[in-house]
Amino acid sequence: MTPDLLEQGARRLEMRQAALAANKNDTASGGRSAGIGRIAKPEGEVDTTHGRILYLEDVSVSFDGFKAINKLSLDIAPGELRCIIGPNGAGKTTMMDIITGKTRPDEGTVFFGSTIDLLRYKEAEIAQLGIGRKFQKPTVFEQLTVFENLELALKTNKGVKSSMFFRLDSAQSDRLADILVNIHLADSVARLAGNLSHGQKQWLEIGMLLMQDPKLLLLDEPVAGMTDEETARTAELFLTLKGKHSLLVVEHDMSFIRTISEIVTVLCDGSVLAQGTLDQVQADERVIEVYLGR
Ligand SMILES: Nc1ncnc2c1ncn2[C@@H]1O[C@H](COP(=O)(O)OP(=O)(O)OP(=O)(O)O)[C@@H](O)[C@H]1O
Ligand SMILES: [Mg+2]
Repeated sequence: MTPDLLEQGARRLEMRQAALAANKNDTASGGRSAGIGRIAKPEGEVDTTHGRILYLEDVSVSFDGFKAINKLSLDIAPGELRCIIGPNGAGKTTMMDIITGKTRPDEGTVFFGSTIDLLRYKEAEIAQLGIGRKFQKPTVFEQLTVFENLELALKTNKGVKSSMFFRLDSAQSDRLADILVNIHLADSVARLAGNLSHGQKQWLEIGMLLMQDPKLLLLDEPVAGMTDEETARTAELFLTLKGKHSLLVVEHDMSFIRTISEIVTVLCDGSVLAQGTLDQVQADERVIEVYLGR
């Protein structure tokens, strides 16, 4: 990245922050403002007319005869923030592997919207379709700055030739500035990612996913290893993203789940054991027995 590009980014960020400060109804944590400057994407829109962005039906997969996922059915509404909980080995990560094309199920149906059959696509194509995935371990480029990491997240979608001449356009710069505010790294644009705290690296990786404007975000144990303060800020971030993106969040941290959750799905032995509000599932005898009562 060239210094002028860094300067350009910093200037846009300043302008964005000034605009935020000027508007009392807006919030520094993003809120509605994050939509400003977004590029409209007419191509590849997901058909959610049936009220679902993701739909799994009777999905099963076995590893050496062991059924890790067993007739799993699930559907997620557009803009929903769905929490998935369940004991170790319940199949939560495997479910994400199936949605993202990393693992092929033996049987079942997996649809993105009502028309895109995800089982017909490869892992890289599924990412292009607008499904972003955050693994538990942060995978940022430690030798690059926060800004460069975010910029790179846009380049990775391009071919080699176009990425050589890649420049952020003004809408992309605005988006980057919005994301920096949302992920609480606006003051750290020029810091090396390797010098960030564990929590900040996790936020940066989420920011990198957001640069690609995914319709659906899958987050596997996003607050594991975070401090209480970082966890609280992550909850705030997810609540900001809800509505604009659909989120599927796997976590064991119940106080975090309590802060962000609407509907909670409990997975056990590869299928849905219970579903409802956190209070409802926590009162369910079967859930207490297999998970919460441990
Ligand atoms: N590629 C694989 N090969 C063999 N077994 C696997 C594979 N992937 C997952 N499993 C097994 O499938 C089961 C479900 O694992 P999974 O990682 O999905 O659980 P999880 O709900 O994410 O658990 P945790 O809360 O510990 O992360 C486990 O018994 C695991 O060992
Ligand atoms: Mg897991």
